[in-house]
Amino acid sequence: MSNDPVLQEQIQKLRQKYAAMGQDLSSYLDGLLYSDYLTYWDYIHLDTLLSLQTPKTSFKDEKVFIVYHQITELYFNLVLWEIQQLVDHPHLEENFFCTRLDRMIRYFQQLVGSFEIMVLGLEKEQFLKFRMSLLPSSGFQSGQYRLIEICSTDLINLVSAKDRQTLTEQSSIEEQIEKMYWRSGATELATGKKTLTLQQFEEKYMGQFKEMGDKHRDKNLRKLYLKHFPDSKEVKSKLRHFDELANVRWPLAHMKSAAQYLKKDPEDIKATGGTNWQKYLPPRFQKIIFFPELWDEQEKLEWGRAGLN
Ligand code: HEM
Repeated sequence: MSNDPVLQEQIQKLRQKYAAMGQDLSSYLDGLLYSDYLTYWDYIHLDTLLSLQTPKTSFKDEKVFIVYHQITELYFNLVLWEIQQLVDHPHLEENFFCTRLDRMIRYFQQLVGSFEIMVLGLEKEQFLKFRMSLLPSSGFQSGQYRLIEICSTDLINLVSAKDRQTLTEQSSIEEQIEKMYWRSGATELATGKKTLTLQQFEEKYMGQFKEMGDKHRDKNLRKLYLKHFPDSKEVKSKLRHFDELANVRWPLAHMKSAAQYLKKDPEDIKATGGTNWQKYLPPRFQKIIFFPELWDEQEKLEWGRAGLN
């Protein structure tokens, strides 16, 4: 038996840990003895990760397209991870709130800064062909993108601009979800007919969106800052930064890829999700703002105009 006091203390702590659960430390030490050393590739599940790219065509650039979507979804997942920590925290403090916001800002900065991988990194001829095998799927069906919105602000701020006057924050979750801006974006105005992309998306996610809308009604980023740090300049400045990245910079970076591949004189090419993308994608039309009270009237008026050309 070693006389090393550090080791003795560690063993003592382990014994207490297992005893508290009615377990025998010695059996667990045996397990440690026989178990293999952890490898990097097992730890991050590298083989699984690299088996998740299954192009539908033999065009080489389709892999780039898939991988970049996957990278984006992983970053979206990290943003949601940070928001959940804020929402679930029992005693929110300003420093914790700010460091998590900083992380979310960094994730979105990575996404905005890397979008050229899409805009410049695909051969247009290949893209226009392989996209036909992806119909009717579209990034529009990113459930995590919608969840970031739902967890960041009140549903009323996600209601389509034309319906924002008729509903209020007090309207029911169902009424507000019914009028989400993305639902009207993918519905034909004349006939009221939903695109297939929207129908499938709703079938999969609508229940979860309602549940999350309910859960985050009083606990979303906006509500948290208004409750805990309404006067903090630092919090406000970080929230403005996040708002601009999520609702102007990313949409503009993303829109550039639509313009790059789907613009063709004299007529634009139809989007795979079936929206009128020229009217749907520009942030100046949807005017989605998570924290409207942090922007003055002029800024709201000019929302989404920066860098438009
Ligand atoms: C060549 C690259 C891309 C093109 C041409 C493109 C095109 C489009 C178009 C036209 C729409 C409108 C909906 C529709 O009718 O389909 C859309 C929506 C969307 N796309 Fe992309 N996209 C690209 C890359 C990406 C990537 C990498 C992501 C990452 C996940 C993404 C996520 C989204 C999201 C979240 C929406 C919904 C935006 C909103 O509702 O405001 N897209 N995309």
